[in-house]
Amino acid sequence: MKGIILAGGKGTRLYPMTKVVSKQLLPIYDKPLIYYPLSMLLLAGIKEILIISTPEDAQNYEQLLGSGEKIGVKFSYTVQDTPRGLADAFILGADFIGDDSVCLILGDNVFYGQDMTKTLRAAMKKVDEEGGACIFGYPVKDARAFGVVEFNKDRKVVSIEEKPQKPKSNYAVPGLYFYDNRVVEIAKNVKPSARGEIEITSVNNAYLETNNLNVQLLGRGVAWLDTGTPEGMLKAAEYVEAVQSRQGFYVSCIEEIAWRRGFITTDELKTIGTELKMTDYGQYLLIIAQEEHKDA
Ligand code: DAU
Repeated sequence: MKGIILAGGKGTRLYPMTKVVSKQLLPIYDKPLIYYPLSMLLLAGIKEILIISTPEDAQNYEQLLGSGEKIGVKFSYTVQDTPRGLADAFILGADFIGDDSVCLILGDNVFYGQDMTKTLRAAMKKVDEEGGACIFGYPVKDARAFGVVEFNKDRKVVSIEEKPQKPKSNYAVPGLYFYDNRVVEIAKNVKPSARGEIEITSVNNAYLETNNLNVQLLGRGVAWLDTGTPEGMLKAAEYVEAVQSRQGFYVSCIEEIAWRRGFITTDELKTIGTELKMTDYGQYLLIIAQEEHKDA
């Protein structure tokens, strides 16, 4: 399975913060926002990752993440010249996807929780073994800003609605989606919505219509944090700080995940830690490199 991180968009809702810096490069506490979704792909075990950004920002992403070699993965880069909608990721990424399945994660979505690795792996396995699509439903107080799952009285999913005025449930669809290879053709056939975007929700409904959509409901064990407003970003940063300072474990430390997954050796981890040793982040890498058992 390949991975795509969609990190374009104009970020207008966060102006002036995002006037000259891409939203997904802004910090959430101690690391760039994109590290959080990237971590999810690494936790799933995905090693070929396409990063889609704007023409203005592509260079910054390449400078930040490089070829991926340092953490034992392969990053490719492409640009989206205008924000045509989330489903555009599969059109822009068609060559990269080839005949593989694909996981798309939005560059501004932050997840955390012990259940996450299990959840990611199960979704990936299901799509790779049975085909179809796997998306998630996450309970939120106000679902109006999201794709929303509609259930019938037997709790069967009957539709996904994009940003409904009156949500038919409180289950929002987070920006994490697993698809079989048909997604490329489906995306090419999606018609722009009233707001002029080719919506991921249309892709999901196309899978639903052919009975190929699996919606996994996420519970209390997973945190899905909002980064859409300055307040959301601050709260996400506070959450990360609270977990890290209390438990001593870092949230979404890409080098740590790469090492625990066996993408890089302990010596390679130490080299990165030494380069960053003037920071708490680097010190953390050097400390975990001393661990005898890395499969925490
Ligand atoms: O976060 C989950 C939600 O993401 C889903 O529940 C919705 O169904 C889905 O449509 C999407 O809603 P948003 O309103 O949050 O999408 P937004 O336009 O803010 O874009 C999400 C991210 O993707 C953001 O970081 C910018 C980037 N993006 C967006 C578009 C439309 C791109 O890179 N290219 C694009 O064309």
